[in-house]
Amino acid sequence: MTAQSTTWPNPKLARDRQAAMYRRAKATLPGGTNSNFRAWGDDTVYVDRGKGGRVWDIDGNEYIDLRMGYGPVILGHGDERVDDYVNERMRLGVSFSLTSEDEVRAMELLRELNPWVAKARMTVSGTEATMHAMRIARAYTGRNKIVKFEGQYHGVHDYALISVLPNEMADLGDQDNPVGLAWGRGIPEAVARTIIPARYNNLELLRRLFEREADDIAAIIVEPVLGNAQGILPRPGFHQAMRALTEEFGILLIFDEVKTGFRFARGGAAEYFGITPDLATYAKAMGNGYPAAAFGGREEVMDMLPGKVSHGGTYAGNRVAAAAAVKTLEILRDTDALATVKATGERIQAGVRGLLDAKGLAYHLTGHPSMFGIMFREEVATEYRDWATTDHELYDAIAVGMHARGAMPEPDSREPWFVCEAHAQGDTVDRIVTIFGESLDTALEQRARGGSLPHEREAAYADS
Ligand SMILES: Cc1ncc(COP(=O)(O)O)c(C=O)c1O
Repeated sequence: MTAQSTTWPNPKLARDRQAAMYRRAKATLPGGTNSNFRAWGDDTVYVDRGKGGRVWDIDGNEYIDLRMGYGPVILGHGDERVDDYVNERMRLGVSFSLTSEDEVRAMELLRELNPWVAKARMTVSGTEATMHAMRIARAYTGRNKIVKFEGQYHGVHDYALISVLPNEMADLGDQDNPVGLAWGRGIPEAVARTIIPARYNNLELLRRLFEREADDIAAIIVEPVLGNAQGILPRPGFHQAMRALTEEFGILLIFDEVKTGFRFARGGAAEYFGITPDLATYAKAMGNGYPAAAFGGREEVMDMLPGKVSHGGTYAGNRVAAAAAVKTLEILRDTDALATVKATGERIQAGVRGLLDAKGLAYHLTGHPSMFGIMFREEVATEYRDWATTDHELYDAIAVGMHARGAMPEPDSREPWFVCEAHAQGDTVDRIVTIFGESLDTALEQRARGGSLPHEREAAYADS
């Protein structure tokens, strides 16, 4: 990396080219990016390339990537096994709106790794997958409403953007009567009213909700861990109890495995937690970064297609995505890639733990070693509202310091660190731990001096 050491608070990174690109991009792309989540203002990162577990921005700064594209890149950037296969297949043509063997093969592999899934269909994004899963659940049950948990992210369609990211936790409503809070404008009230918010790990609230409205609840959709809050874990037995509750009330259970699928285990969180949902959605790790996604589930539910429910998409099952899914899923099936990812995550966690224990800080690690978070809080967090009482100021300051030192976790204390197979190589784990330790020291020293901590991305980059 090209960071030059300065005394305070962190080394500075070269930024000139990115600053110029930001000015240029803002003229055509709102916020200078193609997603709100990448629009980091003056600190927006413009990437040049990635290889394995590393990325380089256009100023030549090198980082160990701990975002991995928000999770899809399970093997590593530019994985030649996947890229070569995709290249070979795409030369045969990409889009026909006809069905290729790659698509059939991809869904056969999905089913092989998730044996409870009888049938599945491809989409291009996780957003589409959750939208279609919700629709098919409504069609199958003849009911209108969907329950979702506060703080869980299921993509950017109207039905998913309820009670995701409040400005203040109080906006989510009373603990016993959470309100549906639309994230951003433009979501019709009539749509928002069909989504009922619940609180993760709170079975009593769920039961009351089901007792009150089950006649009109088609499904509950759940990220098996709270991926939008450092991967907060279910309490022991939570998923089993929720499964039983849904069966009692004839409500479908949708596991949103977009982050956890092909990551927690070959069979995703369903395998990991020993749950058989009715429907599941997949994306991210399924294609190692190519836009492969799918929804699938029990035979009689999926058999609503093609006759009774609308589903389509010009790019659904396109050759690039299907070939990427075939090769990625074959690798995950035939190699110990996921065991490597887990073991590597555990090594990083052990290093981080050692440093934090030595400081006597109150913290806990959340999630799964392949996708974990660090929460500065005395008690273990059990739901999204708990995030507000973490020391996220400290976390943000550490993340800023890590960027400046050449490792890039998301500079938002809600997003977990993502581990890929390539992170196992060379001295990557040691470097992550060293960088974390230095950033932690800097943040704590600054706080001890009574200084304000650099918030989120502030102060990570040199003035340009
Ligand atoms: C759990 C979950 N569901 C759905 C989505 C939406 O997927 P996509 O960004 O591919 O539309 C995401 C994306 O981060 C996710 O984490």
